[in-house]
Amino acid sequence: MKIVITGGAGFLGLRLAKELLARGSLTASSGRAEAISRIVILDVVRAMLDDPRVRCVAGDVADPTLIAEVIGDDTATIFHLAAVVSGQAEAEFDLGMRVNLDATRILLEACRKLPVAPRVVFTSSCAVFGGALPALVPETWNLQPQTSYGTQKVIGELLVNDYSRKGFIDGRALRLPTICVRPGIPNLAASSFASGIIREPLAGVEAICPVGPETPMWLSSPRAVVGHFIAAHEVPAAAFGASRSLNLPGITVSVGEMAATLERVAGREVASRIRWEPDARIAKIVSGWPAGVETARAREMGMQADAGFEEIVRAYIADEHP
Ligand SMILES: NC(=O)c1ccc[n+]([C@@H]2O[C@H](COP(=O)([O-])OP(=O)(O)OC[C@H]3O[C@@H](n4cnc5c(N)ncnc54)[C@H](O)[C@@H]3O)[C@@H](O)[C@H]2O)c1
Repeated sequence: MKIVITGGAGFLGLRLAKELLARGSLTASSGRAEAISRIVILDVVRAMLDDPRVRCVAGDVADPTLIAEVIGDDTATIFHLAAVVSGQAEAEFDLGMRVNLDATRILLEACRKLPVAPRVVFTSSCAVFGGALPALVPETWNLQPQTSYGTQKVIGELLVNDYSRKGFIDGRALRLPTICVRPGIPNLAASSFASGIIREPLAGVEAICPVGPETPMWLSSPRAVVGHFIAAHEVPAAAFGASRSLNLPGITVSVGEMAATLERVAGREVASRIRWEPDARIAKIVSGWPAGVETARAREMGMQADAGFEEIVRAYIADEHP
């Protein structure tokens, strides 16, 4: 079977591609497991992945001609991850609308033309929630996003639901927690600090924390979330019932607890590299996000949250500072 991963050169897309290659098969529309014969990675950045089953395409996900060529008539599954992140979508409104919204519609239209309705996994976000939120947001909470990024994800979810209802695709829209710890360098996501306050001190560099220690974060590790992408793909359509949108499991940790965990795992000197410097713009965006969401449906489908934040930090150290 052929799989397309948009945004496949990114943080999660590349991990997903590697995990799929290691796994070797996925459930096709027939309901039977099929060997993965081809993974096409589409990204503005050319992915570096050396495997005969992988084709890397550098290009724009909002280009309908390119999308039609990449999807062809033999794609069985699409993982649609390409996006501009929250802070950038807020700063560059037109870019956010084009990549996060227009491209999703273009992609879904290409899927609709396929002879067999493909499975589509769309990465949404907890940024779909906003306004006054309870400590634990119920599964069916009214969506009131407070950012353009969140709005674009809500619309993407609704499209995935409607294209699924029409039988054009077999879609799943996954609401990700903030993924931590992200290796590399800071990005333009408003949540970038959540990884930065762990990653930078461990690398001997000072990190600025723009929100107060009491701020709650809804988190998942990259390992867990990539497992959830695949698990959600494998679940039969009937398990989703009336909504293809799904809250993925996560854990609630305050930023102060995150810093304390870093100190416990790596020592006081490392943790002292966190500099607390409030930034009203970031704090406003982050305060609109949920501290925790109800995930009973995902857990019934077999998805589990990370054991705790300490395990997340230790796994990051094992992967990046072996
Ligand atoms: N990482 C998180 O904490 C988090 C949280 C919630 C939701 N998500 C969602 O998960 C998905 C993956 O996130 P990530 O952390 O891997 O982000 P990322 O920024 O690392 O990856 C996104 C990829 O999309 C690519 N891209 C951007 N514009 C493009 C375009 N016009 N055409 C083709 N490719 C383009 C980028 O080059 C990048 O490689 C995104 O949809 C994101 O919104 C991530």
